[in-house]
Amino acid sequence: MCGIVGYTGFQDAYDIVINGLRRLEYRGYDSAGIVLEGPDNKLEVEKTKGKVDDLVNISKDLKGKFNIGMGHTRWATHGVPSDRNSHPHLSNNGKIAIVHNGIIENYDTIKTMLTEKGYTFKSETDTEVLVNLIQYFMELNPEIDFPTAVRYALNEVYGAYAITVLHEDYPGVLVVGRLGSPLAIGIGDKEYFIASDASPFVEFTKEAIYLEEGHMATISLENGVDIRTINDNSKIEPEIQQLKLSLEQIEKGGYEHFMLKEIFEQPKSIHDTMRGRLLVEEGVIKMAGIWDHVERFKNANRIIIIACGTSWHAGLIGEYLIEEYARIPVEVEYASEFRYRNPIITDKDVVIAISQSGETADTMAALKLAKEKGAFIYGICNVVDSSIARITDAGSYTHAGPEIGVASTKAFTAQLTILTLIAFKLGKHNGNLGNADFMSLIAELDAIPKRVEEVLSSTHEQIQQIAKDFVSTSNFLYLGRGYNYPAALEGALKLKEISYIHAEGYPAAEMKHGPIALIDENMPIVIIAPKKGHYDKIVSNVQEIKARKGKIIAVVNKGDRQVSEMADYVIEIPETSECFSPIVASVPLQLLAYYIAVYRGANVDQPRNLAKSVTVE
Ligand code: F6R
Repeated sequence: MCGIVGYTGFQDAYDIVINGLRRLEYRGYDSAGIVLEGPDNKLEVEKTKGKVDDLVNISKDLKGKFNIGMGHTRWATHGVPSDRNSHPHLSNNGKIAIVHNGIIENYDTIKTMLTEKGYTFKSETDTEVLVNLIQYFMELNPEIDFPTAVRYALNEVYGAYAITVLHEDYPGVLVVGRLGSPLAIGIGDKEYFIASDASPFVEFTKEAIYLEEGHMATISLENGVDIRTINDNSKIEPEIQQLKLSLEQIEKGGYEHFMLKEIFEQPKSIHDTMRGRLLVEEGVIKMAGIWDHVERFKNANRIIIIACGTSWHAGLIGEYLIEEYARIPVEVEYASEFRYRNPIITDKDVVIAISQSGETADTMAALKLAKEKGAFIYGICNVVDSSIARITDAGSYTHAGPEIGVASTKAFTAQLTILTLIAFKLGKHNGNLGNADFMSLIAELDAIPKRVEEVLSSTHEQIQQIAKDFVSTSNFLYLGRGYNYPAALEGALKLKEISYIHAEGYPAAEMKHGPIALIDENMPIVIIAPKKGHYDKIVSNVQEIKARKGKIIAVVNKGDRQVSEMADYVIEIPETSECFSPIVASVPLQLLAYYIAVYRGANVDQPRNLAKSVTVE
């Protein structure tokens, strides 16, 4: 959601900023802009509604002339996507430019105050208020410098932000700040980069500082990086990290879309998630995060899983896993609902927060609430050092590698893998999972990457054919039972978010309590029907659909007969224990959604209105 890129150094700032914005496109956006500072110190601004390509069309004359600048991709919150609302925004005196991610919640009060003092506003954004507040403080206190004025302004606002600011009278100086939205500073040789994540600068440097919450930095070639706390200006020693990210990981590597690449990466990403944790020959699961706090889990009244979207679906499967194998009661909550319904939380509760990005505002707010009430917080995040990962008491990274397609695929199966490891580990420890069963389950888990690889190669072509038949469909129903009910929800979410076809997931048995009314010869129904998992009951559900002439796309185990005979399309997956079937069954559903969307001409990697990390409530 929104992306920031900044640069100062010896290279062409225009190229660095534009290419950096392209690397951040995955975050989701609807407008883009750039500001560059010339040798005469004047600020050159170009911005537009639309994509980075549209920005390049109007700004290419700026190429090759500047060594310092910054850019932004905006995902509209305050004010529609438009040229005027795009960032950068300039202060009334035209000297200060800002780009901003996040929301200034008290912008209206500040706007009223500034309007009374004669300030005018060209946009509907909260960001333009902030840049004028900086001007206001500089005029009110002529003795203070530009970074101090930024600090004063940031102390007046509340909400969430990552900002980068330039001032004409302070040539060569970039001021950045962060609260609730990530910002990284890349340290090169006689050059500095700023970005919402490291992807825009990983090809130039492997050294980065991740700005901490409530910190700001003044960056210049002359004085390097000076980090201060926003509230009291205390100096902070920078902690330089070595980036593990590689360029290869953030490029498409020959695939048409990141989403397809990420679907095909799953055998590796699942394996990477288990690497060093699942030691089959020794018969152990090593997870320091769990082991160090195993008594907290063992003595927990219950585990509450909080998450949003796809991560919430993973949480639902986590509930099945943990209750079945560790026999600890689990509740799964949408983070946004949990936060606002005055939940009962005690210090006997363990809260597991699941988030690919580790930046989701709703999840963050929910876990802060749980923390305040004394619960123990465990994080499952993909992005290392993300905000959620930092504030949890303990946790496990999924290690799925960067996920760039907006629709989550490999992060989901990695989340399921971690939840499976947690359930087995706790179950073994508290005696609910006997040694023989444990050994056989972990051997099967170890082979799951292989099973996923089989599914990819055996279903890829077939699914392309099936997808062609559903390009013009308006509705889809996804059904599953037990572990595969959340897998059905996830299949439906994948389809709707990238193809814009209305799709609903349901527990198969619930169909007769309502959705069955929708079934006729035009309704495609994807039904997940593996052998292990209430198969006989599913057969009855399929019969009910058949009787109403619904079009059945069945995901079944190899050699299946009963469901396959009734289905219009049969997709075969290998047989596994029921608890692993959502991982294996999700893969063809991801491919189905992907190809239907591609054949409909949709922008698969950047679906309309969606953002990769949802940093606003
Ligand atoms: C769907 C999708 C979203 C995210 C949700 C939570 O494909 O990606 O539903 O799962 O926005 O995001 P994270 O996991 O980053 O907290």
